[in-house]
Amino acid sequence: MNRKIKAMTVFGTRPEAIKMAPLALELKRCPDIEATVCVTAQHREMLDQVLTMFDIKPDYDLDIMKERQTLVGITTRVLEGLDEVIKQARPDVVLVHGDTTTTFAGALAAFYNQVKVGHVEAGLRTYDKYSPYPEEINRCLTSVMTDFHFAPTAQNRQSLIRENIDPSKIYVTGNTVIDALARTVQRDYRFADESLAATDFDSKKVILVTAHRRENLGEPLKNICTALRHIVERYPDTHIVYPVHLNPAVREVAFEILGGTERVSLIDPVGADDLHNAMARCYMVMTDSGGLQEEAPSLAKPVIVLRNETERPEAVAAGTVKVAGVKKDDIIALAKELIEDKAKYDEMAKAANPYGDGHASGRIVEALRYEFGKCAQRPCDFYSED
Ligand code: UD1
Repeated sequence: MNRKIKAMTVFGTRPEAIKMAPLALELKRCPDIEATVCVTAQHREMLDQVLTMFDIKPDYDLDIMKERQTLVGITTRVLEGLDEVIKQARPDVVLVHGDTTTTFAGALAAFYNQVKVGHVEAGLRTYDKYSPYPEEINRCLTSVMTDFHFAPTAQNRQSLIRENIDPSKIYVTGNTVIDALARTVQRDYRFADESLAATDFDSKKVILVTAHRRENLGEPLKNICTALRHIVERYPDTHIVYPVHLNPAVREVAFEILGGTERVSLIDPVGADDLHNAMARCYMVMTDSGGLQEEAPSLAKPVIVLRNETERPEAVAAGTVKVAGVKKDDIIALAKELIEDKAKYDEMAKAANPYGDGHASGRIVEALRYEFGKCAQRPCDFYSED
């Protein structure tokens, strides 16, 4: 190709933004690439926080978010909005991330326009249709439409190969979230959130919590919050910090069960820089998020996963993550072990980097240059020693 490669990144939720931001910036820096950013704004405030932090000004903003939005609603609005944008901008490749409904609908809009698809964070699987819901199926459907698969780990690559995907189109890159972490975590960091700034990370065992997944809404989230309440009441040296997602279905439960409890800070969602630095300083993490499971091993923090399974077995193998499930007693039992048993804690609190070395975005840009004939050398795969 004689002209520049026209690459459009598409994302819509907070975690996609955190993980796509380092790539969007790297694409902008590459002289062979004309980079544009389209946000669907499946999330609004929580997305804008990340855009501000990384100083990214989207070229297109579909602004689709509605309160208590449905999967069909999101899919339809992304598909229609992106179809118009793609027809106008005519990119050579659309880059989507992970497993949200923005990801799936973004890839579908590109496919319908016969534009190539690059899938960042490809190859994660639980093989359980409804868990996580709808993410497992979103990522499977996206893989089918993808031309260039950017798999974070060798294990993710194997999963794609098992699905008959051409191995020459799979690049093992590491996860871009580790690129983001390298920018955000600082020794002398000052928290923007007042409650985090006032938190005593030194003399309290601070437990950083996030829980808001769709399949946890209702009974599982009630169990999680009840378990958290039990833990903080039983151990006076603990302090729970829980940035609560803006989804009303999450906030109602979290505030009803944990509101007003001593040593529980229910705070509004914080920026990625606040969250990463809180993680770097906390005692341990309890979460149903995928991204936190990837970040915590790099920061040597034990993680209790508030789900029945994980598509991130590398951190379990590395020993920093344990899957608790969503039953109250199981969650309490794992937390008890980490709070009471110093040896068990030390075993889990060790640094490992199964998810990346901070150069994932660079590898993705090189892979695109290679695929579009801008260089002769295929980039080397990321290789983890953990
Ligand atoms: C979405 C993704 C999920 C991803 C998660 C990260 C889907 C189906 N789900 O789930 O894969 O892991 O993001 O958080 O793609 N809201 C606001 N302001 C915001 C953001 C959300 O008010 O800035 C509220 C709205 O009421 C919205 C609700 O949260 O309707 C749910 O948002 P939605 O994107 O549908 O689901 P998430 O649970 O955030």
